Amino acid sequence: MNPRSVRITGWGMYAPERVLSNADLERVVDTSDEWIRTRTGIRERRVAAAHETTATLAAIAGKRAIAVAGLEPDDIDVILVATLTPDYWMPSTGALVKEAIGNTRAAAMDVMAACSGFVYAYSVGDAYLRGGGFRNALIIGSETLSRFLDFSDRATCILFGDGAGAVVLSASDEEGGGMQGLEMTTDPDGAYMIWLPSGGSRSPVTGGTLARGEHYVRMEGKETYRYATKTMATTALKAIERAGWKPDEIDLFIPHQANVRIIESVAKGLGLPMEKMFVNLDRYGNTSAASVGIALAEAVDSGRINIGDKIVLVAFGAGLTSGGIALEWTADPVCGERAKSVEPMATVREPIDWSSVDPIPERLRQVLEGGAGPRVPLDDVVPGEPEPAHREVLA
Ligand code: ACO
Repeated sequence: MNPRSVRITGWGMYAPERVLSNADLERVVDTSDEWIRTRTGIRERRVAAAHETTATLAAIAGKRAIAVAGLEPDDIDVILVATLTPDYWMPSTGALVKEAIGNTRAAAMDVMAACSGFVYAYSVGDAYLRGGGFRNALIIGSETLSRFLDFSDRATCILFGDGAGAVVLSASDEEGGGMQGLEMTTDPDGAYMIWLPSGGSRSPVTGGTLARGEHYVRMEGKETYRYATKTMATTALKAIERAGWKPDEIDLFIPHQANVRIIESVAKGLGLPMEKMFVNLDRYGNTSAASVGIALAEAVDSGRINIGDKIVLVAFGAGLTSGGIALEWTADPVCGERAKSVEPMATVREPIDWSSVDPIPERLRQVLEGGAGPRVPLDDVVPGEPEPAHREVLA
């Protein structure tokens, strides 16, 4: 039988211990703490240790969400991991997470929608549960972006961080609560505004792609910024309208944590004060698909969300994608205490007869170890970099 509602019953997050400050980044690229803070609002971000991966971060956040929901790992029927930085191209990170959380029954897969991934994965899980087949879905956004950044490119390496956020969605026989309005968009006109050129079927990894740094994230910051400020507000508004609500009825927005100026412009676009916007990017930077999940967990645990509140999750990302969910909160925030029983550790199955390289990029390792090579001159950020491909598309 189809449930009457699908509600968030658990939430959890995990961020690696190691902090990378703006001052640390000053040692590798031509930037300053002042520039990063005033242009983005970011003061520091976390970076995964060598033994951590997207799957281990996801497993810790997922186990915390399951504990908060008062469930056992085997109560989960489906696991969806949103990520653009998977452990491998195959198997899915979801498959590794399933074993790491101690689940033996769930179907597991990854959802790829870049920074909108958490919102997209939530909507997929919600649909599975509404369909009547499953009772509990574990939705996780998890990223180790530090492994995919060029720490000589000041336009990108200052923005991103590592972490994971999760929720458990549960089918309920009670009326009301959970997702009331959904909006999602995908606009391939901006497909190359944020991209990772090599490693896929269009450009498999070769010595040449490696030499050109094409295995790192590239971004047209200004154009992405323009898109984000326009789309975040319209996407949120559509989700709110679909719920039959008005913007001033919303108790708290949980926006994707890319840049505080983007969040300020969303607030302005909706005619709302900044107090209605949850912001934690000063401490984590942009954790892509993890950002909304981490922010939601921190918002509940810091007393910003109460039963009956109207909440909006809204994100944008590569694709270009956007997603907004207007939801009514039903869980007792006190249950968040249960996450403390989960140790910040996870073990993910290792391959047999194969050992990976040191996963931390060389320049990042130098910073983490307290030294740094020569700073990279500005006109040589990515040697031999081709013209941004999206210009052809947008022309
Ligand atoms: N430190 C110091 N100076 C810098 C840095 C830096 N880290 N980066 C750029 N600059 C310089 C530029 O070279 C430029 O110098 P110039 O005027 O001499 O040419 C100047 O600062 C201004 O650069 P802009 O790019 O115009 O700076 P802007 O105010 O647009 O801020 C930023 C750049 C922060 C990247 C902004 O455009 C932004 O936040 N864009 C959105 C990015 C984003 O959210 N991406 C994530 C998408 S989500 C996903 O799916 C992964």
